[in-house]
Amino acid sequence: MYKAHTCSKFILFLVLTSFSVVTFAQTYVVGIEPSFPPWASVSEGEFKGIAPDAVRAIAEQQGFDVEFKSMSFPSLIPALEAGKIDILATGLTVSKKRAEVIDFTIPWWHINLVSLVKKDSGLNAITALCCGSDVGAQSGSTNNDWLTDNLVDNGIDINIRTYPDDTTGVQDLQIGRIDAYFIDSDTASLFIQKNSDSLRIAGVINPHPVSVYALGVKKGNDELLEILNKGEVELYESGEWADIIHEYLPGVAVGDVPGVLPPGISSYEEPIPGYSD
Ligand code: ARG
Repeated sequence: MYKAHTCSKFILFLVLTSFSVVTFAQTYVVGIEPSFPPWASVSEGEFKGIAPDAVRAIAEQQGFDVEFKSMSFPSLIPALEAGKIDILATGLTVSKKRAEVIDFTIPWWHINLVSLVKKDSGLNAITALCCGSDVGAQSGSTNNDWLTDNLVDNGIDINIRTYPDDTTGVQDLQIGRIDAYFIDSDTASLFIQKNSDSLRIAGVINPHPVSVYALGVKKGNDELLEILNKGEVELYESGEWADIIHEYLPGVAVGDVPGVLPPGISSYEEPIPGYSD
């Protein structure tokens, strides 16, 4: 009887401990739009790229689980606001407009903006973005905003054509439906690598304020922001960040994490949860 009692206690202990092991790790849903190599892509059903790989590595270091959810790019920020996803992971550019509705982690990468054109078009850095040019950009992207705010609103004559994803936009460029496609520098270089016989870079813009990438979380989710900021810094300091970057962009110079903070963004004017310097 005594033995049976001890034994059942032991079984109860085993059940409870294994149960707590199973339920311990929190699962965060990560939203991604995977037509954006090298930052976000999909291969044989698996999400690949710098952003998902880094989030998986942070999850392992910080002890949480992740589940990826593929969505169209313009639906990612509304999904974050509505709590349908917890983390937005792609080459997400930090912007003042976005900082009003979501919170950004510390920035981890710096990019430029590039005009892709057909190799045989006579366009240059200026003419690709003026004089009646049809310019493509991903809908809902900061590239689209940059063209509107800096060119259209200043009376520069371009027609912006938006695309649900960059692959479709670049295809339209190749068949001559648009004159230029305006895209982030890393992604542009991968498109060029794959289509070096038909595409080239006509011009590069280093925008002001700087264009930097970060992860996004729901506004006010300081607990997760703190985990991710700590995770980004630890990933960088452990050298794993550079390994991930070099897997996709061999030989590229890896900047410091945190990167340069763009000025005037409300979430950075207060102390950043999980990051102090
Ligand atoms: N960096 C740009 C932005 O944040 C474009 C990002 C596109 N990302 C993607 N997964 N398609 O607006």
